[in-house]
Amino acid sequence: MYTHLLSLALATTVVAFPTVKPQGPIGGSNPAPLSGLWTSPSHVYSNGQYKQVVYISFDGMHRSDLVKYVEMFPNSTWASIILKNGVVFNNAKASTPSDSFPATTALFTGASPRLTGIYWDDTWARDLYPASSNCTGPIGAEADWSVASDLDATSITGGGGFNLSAVPMRLTSWGACEPIFPHDYLRTNTIFEVARGNGLNTAYLDKHPTYEFLNGPSGLGLTQGYFPEIGSEAANMAAQWEWEDLHWSALANITAGHYVNGTGSVDFSLIGVNFQALTWAQSNGGGYANGSTLANPVFGSNILAALERYDAKLKIFLDQLQAAGKLDSTLLILSSKQGQSPVDESTLKHISSDALLNATGVEVSFFTGDDAGLLWLAHGSDAATAKANLLANAESLNIESVLAGDEIWEYGFGNPRKDPRAPDVAVIAKDGTLFSTNNQTGNHGAWLPDDLEVPLVFYNPTLTAANHSLQVQTRQLAATMLSALGLPLAQLDGWREEGSPVIPFLGLANN
Ligand SMILES: *[C@@H]1O[C@H](CO)[C@@H](O)[C@H](O)[C@H]1NC(C)=O
Ligand SMILES: *[C@@H]1O[C@H](CO)[C@@H](O)[C@H](O)[C@H]1NC(C)=O
Ligand SMILES: *[C@@H]1O[C@H](CO)[C@@H](O)[C@H](O)[C@H]1NC(C)=O
Ligand SMILES: *[C@@H]1O[C@H](CO)[C@@H](O)[C@H](O)[C@H]1NC(C)=O
Ligand SMILES: *[C@@H]1O[C@H](CO)[C@@H](O)[C@H](O)[C@H]1NC(C)=O
Ligand SMILES: *[C@@H]1O[C@H](CO)[C@@H](O)[C@H](O)[C@H]1NC(C)=O
Ligand SMILES: *[C@@H]1O[C@H](CO)[C@@H](O)[C@H](O)[C@H]1NC(C)=O
Ligand SMILES: *[C@@H]1O[C@H](CO)[C@@H](O)[C@H](O)[C@H]1NC(C)=O
Ligand SMILES: *[C@@H]1O[C@H](CO)[C@@H](O)[C@H](O)[C@H]1NC(C)=O
Repeated sequence: MYTHLLSLALATTVVAFPTVKPQGPIGGSNPAPLSGLWTSPSHVYSNGQYKQVVYISFDGMHRSDLVKYVEMFPNSTWASIILKNGVVFNNAKASTPSDSFPATTALFTGASPRLTGIYWDDTWARDLYPASSNCTGPIGAEADWSVASDLDATSITGGGGFNLSAVPMRLTSWGACEPIFPHDYLRTNTIFEVARGNGLNTAYLDKHPTYEFLNGPSGLGLTQGYFPEIGSEAANMAAQWEWEDLHWSALANITAGHYVNGTGSVDFSLIGVNFQALTWAQSNGGGYANGSTLANPVFGSNILAALERYDAKLKIFLDQLQAAGKLDSTLLILSSKQGQSPVDESTLKHISSDALLNATGVEVSFFTGDDAGLLWLAHGSDAATAKANLLANAESLNIESVLAGDEIWEYGFGNPRKDPRAPDVAVIAKDGTLFSTNNQTGNHGAWLPDDLEVPLVFYNPTLTAANHSLQVQTRQLAATMLSALGLPLAQLDGWREEGSPVIPFLGLANN
């Protein structure tokens, strides 16, 4: 029995989130949580080959970063322990778009944005009303699930909840207008919901409270979420590491059979966590050294320091798992949600998004982007015009190609004519281009090799080392994780609709 629903353990605070949305003034107080709505079965599902699956994303890491690191440090934990018993996939591709939000969604829903409705962290939704609008005025709203919807973005807890005046609103079928939570935005269920529905405990750790969206549409997928706000940290390596240490500590507690805060006795079966220092070093901490290419990355000092620290921390984590008696029963998945572009910083060029918008020559409702750009137009029928105008300026805007209208669907995304979330236009930039005017040396979101070529290693001490060149997608990890725990794939919307299969060569059932 769960006495509270949807609790987010945020650094030092534990907050209960409402399952019944406030009906009163926007920003009003949260009603008391419902008790006993979700009753877990008394048995613990135990048909799986593994009792515990731990997915770790070293955000921003490329497969070649790992290969280079192992070459440089043949006695490292990566080289001497993990790869000794690791099953490596050397042609693993992150999902598209590679922005962290859809990249994370793919991992835990097994679905593409066509189903999930999630294209970036900050997008336009033709089916929602603007924040604080009370569902009056024209429909169509920004849904910004970055730090912007925190109650307090300057606090490590993110303020312990969401700013209900900053999130989009929807009309319910009974005519009420309500602000929505991140998990309401996701259209398909998550493997966390499947696991919980079968009586298992789950935990997910990420960088903003908005990652509670992995609770899934039921709002109940996570036994615990832990989302210290990365945006509250200073822009230096020490601060990034301090933040990461919260995640390492929480991970050690959870995998040893405790809650995030280290108390209680509870077995978590499905656990996901990310780390951020590498992505910070790549994009804001100096980046790669001159002469770096994706095939042969040359590490800048902060990138090397981040990788060395991961190696040391992994050793400690493996020792902790061993001490907790859980190493043998854990399937560890070491990967990255997405890479980072560019690795060759001599190609780096910032283009302002304003110049891009202006060049469309049509009315744009919303733009989102980094190394690619997605546009939602005021009138979808303008898509072909916008494309022609953008291509006429391709040289000055560093544009490689443009998808518009039906081409968005043909590429694999939703059809903007029908799908209220699908963008009308996607701008694919030349490698090294960032549609921003900040000082970042890298970012992600597009589908360039720099964004998509991620490491993927499965580790358990009983596995026999292997290195497979079969191309696999990180989206397949959803079914793979369910299978490792003996959970039914058919309970996952993404698997039923799109069927991304269990990754082979791991001895896992695909049913
Ligand atoms: C929305 O409703 C709240 C509370 O009823 C009110 O204070 C606010 O002014 C309304 N806003 C708009 C845009 O109608
Ligand atoms: C790795 O370890 C071996 C034996 O422990 C040692 O001989 C060798 O010098 C080490 N190599 C490096 C690069 O540290
Ligand atoms: C796996 O095989 C590829 C291709 O042969 C090789 O480049 C790579 O170094 C190997 N190891 C890893 C960890 O990818
Ligand atoms: C909540 O969002 C509204 C609208 O963006 C903003 O005016 C307000 O200052 C925010 N409140 C807090 C506590 O940040
Ligand atoms: C630790 O976390 C658990 C689960 O959220 C909670 O029930 C408990 O009260 C917390 N303990 C402390 C000391 O905060
Ligand atoms: C993990 O548990 C220890 C106590 O064993 C506690 O000191 C630490 O704060 C916990 N970590 C987190 C992130 O709460
Ligand atoms: C790296 O290249 C940039 C130009 O792309 C140059 O300004 C800088 O001095 C170079 N750095 C080193 C250490 O050579
Ligand atoms: C906007 O576009 C017009 C014509 O397409 C051009 O003359 C103008 O310089 C552009 N402005 C900016 C800010 O890019
Ligand atoms: C970029 O860096 C320079 C030098 O540190 C600084 O003066 C400038 O304000 C920065 N620009 C932005 C947009 O952050």
